[in-house]
Amino acid sequence: MAKELFILKDLCKDYDNNTILKSINLDIYEGEFLTLLGPSGCGKTTILRLLAGFEEPSSGEIILNGKNINSLPPEQRAINTVFQSYALFPHMSVFDNVAFGLKMKKIPKEQIKKEVETALLMVKLSKFMNKKPHELSGGQQQRVAIARAVVNKPLILLLDESLSALDYKLRKAMQIELKMLQRQLGITFLFVTHDQEEALSMSDRIVVMNKGKIEQIGTPKEIYEEPKNLFVAQFIGQANCFESKVLQESDNSVSLAYGDKTFSLKSKKSFKTEYCTILIRPEDFRVEKNLEDVKSNNFFIGELENIIYKGTTIDLLVKLEDGKEVIASEFYNEDSDALGYEVGIKLFLYWVEGWEVLLPHE
Ligand SMILES: Nc1ncnc2c1ncn2[C@@H]1O[C@H](COP(=O)(O)OP(=O)(O)OP(=O)(O)O)[C@@H](O)[C@H]1O
Ligand SMILES: [Mg+2]
Repeated sequence: MAKELFILKDLCKDYDNNTILKSINLDIYEGEFLTLLGPSGCGKTTILRLLAGFEEPSSGEIILNGKNINSLPPEQRAINTVFQSYALFPHMSVFDNVAFGLKMKKIPKEQIKKEVETALLMVKLSKFMNKKPHELSGGQQQRVAIARAVVNKPLILLLDESLSALDYKLRKAMQIELKMLQRQLGITFLFVTHDQEEALSMSDRIVVMNKGKIEQIGTPKEIYEEPKNLFVAQFIGQANCFESKVLQESDNSVSLAYGDKTFSLKSKKSFKTEYCTILIRPEDFRVEKNLEDVKSNNFFIGELENIIYKGTTIDLLVKLEDGKEVIASEFYNEDSDALGYEVGIKLFLYWVEGWEVLLPHE
């Protein structure tokens, strides 16, 4: 396992008697791409501000390379931040913006020139070094902001919603570039977003937050495939949830009742609760028009209510017999079955056993 760069220990932050962060415990490893993901107001920016030293914790500890830095001023932390508004100096050229930090450190001119040129080459802006920020696109300005930060060789780069101002295509391109840049530099990146797709595609690990608390920490795969609770499951992607009664449990199986249906599923977990939730992702549903094609005893019957075309996939909105609406998504191409779907037809939905997630009742 990589070495911890930062350790956040029972970190709490209050503003005017309002608790904003509640006992945050988080290790940040050297060289990782870590993402804070959560709804607006959950405390993501507050964590960055505490790490950068713009705020002091109300209680708990921030440990950097083994030392408590709770009260260390920002300029002594070797941390750089790229905020959502890139805050470039408007009157300075791209070159001078990137050179700013090095000039402040009184580094010899020749060396500054070399380092700034290397940084600009990396973010593919060499041609623009004499332009002013207002002559650049949003994506280019963002790359200047990143170059300006990495040229200082920070221990960690904090990026707060850095891509959210960009259009979809540029954002996708920047996601790939940013990730490559991080690999190349080997600098720890702490990235903040409320876009789950962005978090899944870029991160080594994701921290899912809600109301000032950490709900789950894990790799994108762990978070998506084994969400710890309903909040995580529903925040990361779509999820169909079926609250079911636990009828019987044994070492590796569980029998559940949902309405008048009984499902028997493999389970390594023990619930010890009366109810649990069966969670099935839209892409894990198999859709059939005929009962004889259903390859499982665990299935639902419903009526197709709506078809939502999404390019490579289609979402089928299906109303089950009990009135519950669920979503099943299917790959879509010229010869797929999907073409034969019509609103109003009867559909059978089943799933491959083991692909469901079982969550204890909360
Ligand atoms: N200086 C402050 N004084 C009082 N309350 C604050 C201050 N800064 C933040 N807050 C409150 O703390 C909570 C968390 O704010 P924070 O900016 O960390 O959220 P966030 O997760 O970054 O949200 P967003 O996704 O909208 O940027 C919010 O309810 C906010 O109103
Ligand atoms: Mg924020």
